Amino acid sequence: MGASEPDGGLRLEDVHSGYGKLEVVRGVSLSVRPGEIVTMIGPNGAGKSTLLRTIFGFLPPTRGSIWLRGTPIHHLRPPQVLRHGIAYVMQGHNVLPNLTVEDNLILGAYIRADPGVRADVSQLYEQFPSLYARRHQKARVLSGGERRMLELARVLLMHATMLLLDEPTLGLAPKVIDQVYDTIHRINADGVAVLLVEQNARTALRHAHRAYVLEQGRIRFEGRGQELLDNAEVKRVYLGG
Ligand SMILES: Nc1ncnc2c1ncn2[C@@H]1O[C@H](COP(=O)(O)OP(=O)(O)OP(=O)(O)O)[C@@H](O)[C@H]1O
Ligand SMILES: [Mg+2]
Repeated sequence: MGASEPDGGLRLEDVHSGYGKLEVVRGVSLSVRPGEIVTMIGPNGAGKSTLLRTIFGFLPPTRGSIWLRGTPIHHLRPPQVLRHGIAYVMQGHNVLPNLTVEDNLILGAYIRADPGVRADVSQLYEQFPSLYARRHQKARVLSGGERRMLELARVLLMHATMLLLDEPTLGLAPKVIDQVYDTIHRINADGVAVLLVEQNARTALRHAHRAYVLEQGRIRFEGRGQELLDNAEVKRVYLGG
């Protein structure tokens, strides 16, 4: 049981969810321990995004439970889930295009009560020089990769302990994908556990401590990233041979 794991990060127990009568997530149990990067791969329509929406509280599970550090969170709505320290970067639509880069950063930290946000933003710019260069420009002028960096930089300001990431490298060039993963590792090194959903399975498995394969709403495989990369069936079905 999740409650019996006092120190555990995120834990799902037999979670079911979907849309009306359509059950999409069909009994998923998984865990993300503090400090881990865990990836979830699986074909289109497997229910990966639905699972993240369920964890964040957009969809209530119809069965099962979700625990964060031993506290049940499956009955919470997204603002409360956020206050428990879970950040969620959806596919697209995360930045406000008509605000400047800097205002997007500051706004992302609105849940923080302390006055240190501006100082933290200045410090953050040292790690994200491309955002510093564009800090007074509207976010809509950013490239896809820069936008991703803005979304990820904002997570550091939120002081989250858990990050849910949906397809962070979709549509990006290989060099930019490397930068995005560098940033994910940096966030992780800052003490944030990561649950990452990816189409780009090979890359995701290389960067993850552990991984799950989701198929039709159920976990088909789980293991260390390298184990799944070496697994004959995973290779054949999910990695294109
Ligand atoms: N808002 C919705 N209303 C009804 N059905 C939905 C909704 N969103 C998703 N679905 C259905 O749920 C199933 C799983 O979708 P989901 O987006 O979770 O898959 P996914 O694994 O993230 O796929 P992809 O890799 O394409 O992003 C699909 O059959 C989809 O059509
Ligand atoms: Mg999806």
